[in-house]
Formats: sequence, structure tokens, C-alpha cells
Amino acid sequence: MKFPFKESIFATIGNWPPEWKKINLAQGFPNFPYPDLLKNYALETLNTPSLHQYAPTRGMLSLREAIVGYVSSFYSVSICPHKGIIVTCGATQAIALALNILLEEGDEVLAFAPFYDSYHAQILFSKARLNTLELSWENDFSFTKAELEKALTPKTKILLLNTPHNPTGKVFTKKELDLIAQVTAKHPCVILSDEVYEFLTYNKNRPHVSVASHPDLKNKTLTISSLGKTFGATGWKIGWIYGPEALWPILEQISLKLQYDCFSVTSFIQEAAAKALGDLENYLPSFQSHYLSLRDFFIPQLQKLHKCTARAVNPDGSYFTLIPVPKSFKPKSFKNDQQFCEELAKKTGIASIPTSSFYLSNPKEFSFRLCFAKDKILLEKALAQLKLFLEKKSLP
Ligand SMILES: Cc1ncc(COP(=O)(O)O)c(C=O)c1O
Repeated sequence: MKFPFKESIFATIGNWPPEWKKINLAQGFPNFPYPDLLKNYALETLNTPSLHQYAPTRGMLSLREAIVGYVSSFYSVSICPHKGIIVTCGATQAIALALNILLEEGDEVLAFAPFYDSYHAQILFSKARLNTLELSWENDFSFTKAELEKALTPKTKILLLNTPHNPTGKVFTKKELDLIAQVTAKHPCVILSDEVYEFLTYNKNRPHVSVASHPDLKNKTLTISSLGKTFGATGWKIGWIYGPEALWPILEQISLKLQYDCFSVTSFIQEAAAKALGDLENYLPSFQSHYLSLRDFFIPQLQKLHKCTARAVNPDGSYFTLIPVPKSFKPKSFKNDQQFCEELAKKTGIASIPTSSFYLSNPKEFSFRLCFAKDKILLEKALAQLKLFLEKKSLP
């Protein structure tokens, strides 16, 4: 069987010439050093001889217990460390396994668009279909009960949520989860909730609400998260998926598949991750204030640059902003966001993501995504180049 999906936008940008991405705000990872805390634990576990052989397929018990511990203390959600959780190679593998196990040919998945692009490829791989409910600028990236009712069909096997949301920076509120609970109350779908940005929120009035903590959703929700975003170390590729007793049979199937996929995830890294998660409460305040300072440095300056950047999203969560592509841009008008991003990269060295890659078909409005998990020197360079580009319409 041929893989039913073309190269991802991240692979496309990976193949761009280096001078197109001197100021790389495309992919979601920091350009500053990862925390010493993580490094010190990794050195300690690297030097522990017993931590270099296969880990159990479901993950090292120490890591499963550390995840269960933080989920209990932050969200008051109780998970069984033996049957209720599995460690994976990043959130991406957890998403892939859950979709592969749950879906059969002809099934449907409902997700909000824009959506993280790996979802669609995995859904197609299972010969299932992705339907989307588009979140739009004019509705503040929210949705109504009627829209959700219309989008959910008898074939919907999974409602795929992502909060905080990539790329809009939206954090789903308790009220929105109430709506989802009402609409899915009598529907047999499973909720798959991708919460990799759970600790990256900026607005006290819009805190992250764990979907698994919602009283009417907790029994049908599988939650996915990852170490990479919270500890600024996306290359560690430690992810996990957990769920309530009612969904243990699905988790059992996922662990059976994982046995034959990669068998288990790197053992000494899992142990270091477990130790780091044990320090989460002490670590989070400085981590969160650092990202808040980057958002508050970058977004207000960005919004002042041009008519189009005035509408740049000031996100409540994640480390992305969305900016509308200027409609008419002389001497050249752009047919789509991909063309705009290529021109921007060619002229300024700023790499960004055309957000049409996060939709099934062209969105109502073209936009591009910038990641601000970068040091202030790089963000300043990006602002200066973007200003010139937008003012002069073209650089030499
Ligand atoms: C919404 C979302 N889910 C999952 C992932 C992938 O996480 P991981 O690197 O742990 O596989 C990302 C990475 O950017 C993401 O933005």
C-alpha cells in the first residue's frame, strides 16, 4: 500500500535553501537552550548502567507514575499507572496509534480546522475520513452548539480536540467543553484530546481545562501530551496517552500495536523525564513567565507593523500567532498563503508556515503562522525584516 499523503509542510520547509530560513519561525520549537534540570537528569541517567536496556512497552513505571502524579495534582484526574497510561515516541506516535486502533475503513473523525497536520495523514492511513468544523477569526475561533451538532454524524468515531490549540493559540473554555459534552452525550464517539501545550497558557481568565477533568467527558476521553513542549526539548520525543477504566481495552490494543511498532521508548531518557516531571511544580513558574515575556515582547510590536499584522492573534495558549495574508500586495498579489510564505522567506529569510496546510481545502481567509519560542534577538530581527517587507512590499 502506498502512503496516502504527500510530504508535510515541515518536510517542504526542511528542503528550502538555508538562506530562506535564517530567521526560522516556522517549526514549533525553541532556539534557546533546554533547561539545566533536564540536562542534569539526563547525565545522571546516562551514567546509570541499569538504564540502557529495553524498557517495558507501556513505559517505565517511574515515568507512568510521574505522569499519573501530575495529572492527579493539576487536574484531580485519577489514572491507573498500570492499565490507564502508555508512553510513546512523542505525542505524534500516541495520536497515530490511537487513530490506527480506533478507526476502521469508512469511519469518520471530526476535528476543528485549522488542525495539526499529522492528524489527517493518520486518518487517511486508516482509510477513514476527516471532517472539519472551521474556526474563524470573525467568531473568535469559537463555535456554536448548532454547528457542532451538524458536523457530528452517525459515522463519527472520534472527536479530535486540541487545547491549547495549534495554530490559533485558542484555549477551549469550560463553557465550550460543556457544549461538547451536551452534543456528544448520546453519541458513542471517543474524544481524543491533544493537550501538548497544556502548560503554555498566558491568560488567567482562560486557564487550560483538561478535557478528562470534565465530569461528562471524563469517561470517553483519551488524553495525549508530551514532554517536548513543556520542557523545551522537542527532540526528546517522549509522549503519552492516558484514559479512564472504560477505555482500558483501547489502551490495551494500543500497547499491543506498540509492541510491534517500536517495542518501547528509550529507557534512560524516560527515567530522566520521570525525574523532571517530579519537579514540575517548581519548574513551571519560570518556564511560564519566560514564554509570557516572549509573547508580550513579540505580539504588541508585531501588531503595530502593518494593517495585516494589526490582526495578528495574541494567543491565550501555545507559542504561535496567526497573521492574515495581506489581500492585495503590490507589485504582486498572492494567490495563496504558500506563495506568500515563499516570497517572504526568499526576500527576508523569515520562515513561516502557510496555514492552509492545516485545512482540508482552502480556508475562508489565508494566513501564516509564526512561532515566538525564539530568543528576543531573533524575534527583533524578524520584526525588522517583516516591517521592511510589508512597508516596501518588496526587498532588494
Ligand atoms: C498540536 C500538536 N500535537 C502534537 C505535536 C507533536 O508532539 P511530539 O513532538 O511530542 O510528537 C505537536 C508538535 O508541534 C503539536 O503542535
